[in-house]
Amino acid sequence: MQTPCSEGDRTAEADRDGAAPGRLMAISDLHIRYEENRAIVDRLRPASDADWLLVAGDVGEYVEDIRWALTVLSRRFAKVIWVPGNHELWTPSNDPVQLRGVQRYEHLVAICRELGVLTPEDPYPVWEGEGGPAVIAPLFALYDYSFRPPGTHTKEAALAVAEQAGVVCTDEFFLHPDPYPTREAWCRARIAATEARLAEIPEDLPTVLVNHWPIVREPTEPLWHPEFALWCGTKATANWPRRFRAASVVYGHLHIPRTIEVDGVPHIEVSLGYPREWRRRKAAPGQQVQILPAVARAPQF
Ligand SMILES: [Fe+2]
Ligand SMILES: [Fe+2]
Repeated sequence: MQTPCSEGDRTAEADRDGAAPGRLMAISDLHIRYEENRAIVDRLRPASDADWLLVAGDVGEYVEDIRWALTVLSRRFAKVIWVPGNHELWTPSNDPVQLRGVQRYEHLVAICRELGVLTPEDPYPVWEGEGGPAVIAPLFALYDYSFRPPGTHTKEAALAVAEQAGVVCTDEFFLHPDPYPTREAWCRARIAATEARLAEIPEDLPTVLVNHWPIVREPTEPLWHPEFALWCGTKATANWPRRFRAASVVYGHLHIPRTIEVDGVPHIEVSLGYPREWRRRKAAPGQQVQILPAVARAPQF
């Protein structure tokens, strides 16, 4: 069968030669502004030449940092697929690249194209290795303040409750939506365009949906500050996992790495997080998470 991607053929080739078959792996929230995290990326390697790596956002804030990490990873993995996180979309005042909003995103997409890294703007690749076929759909859905605290019905009321609780996401100062008037307007445009593309995927193929923010609200439930959910997704994507036949959903952003099942679909958070966070965990930091072939995971609550 002809497929849009030659890497699937490389996987089959490796199988025939008796080499290790490829796996679809994922990681996110590398935050390489921290030296210890940069060292983890420096050590990150595939188990086989046929492995693909999903990088689910928050590589860093500075364009040169993002370029460095994606260059390193794209030289090692058969294919790297990146989606933007909120940190990539910030315009820090000391970054020589002062592009904002859509222009900044498009600049990062152009760097990815130079490196052969796939983004939400490319045709969706098909994983033909073990556990496939599955369409890998990198998404950039953003958020729209619809994960509101109980008893609030507008963005303004929700933000007031968050502010009173002392919770304001740094995005409010650095994530500019230009040329859209607001982040939620940018989100609406992303949702409409993405929905149309997902609807074109042949119905006999399952998908792996990859987005920086969770695409259902449930993963935000254990947040220490529940008001922070405002900056963590949109209700507009809640039916996407079932509607678009997701075998799994991969996300980051919360820095709460775990798997939960929602409506029969595993939602897998693959974040590394900040050194102060991963130092508290028992597991060694910087482990890639296997997405395909699927592995049994005990759901965590
Ligand atoms: Fe993050
Ligand atoms: Fe994030």
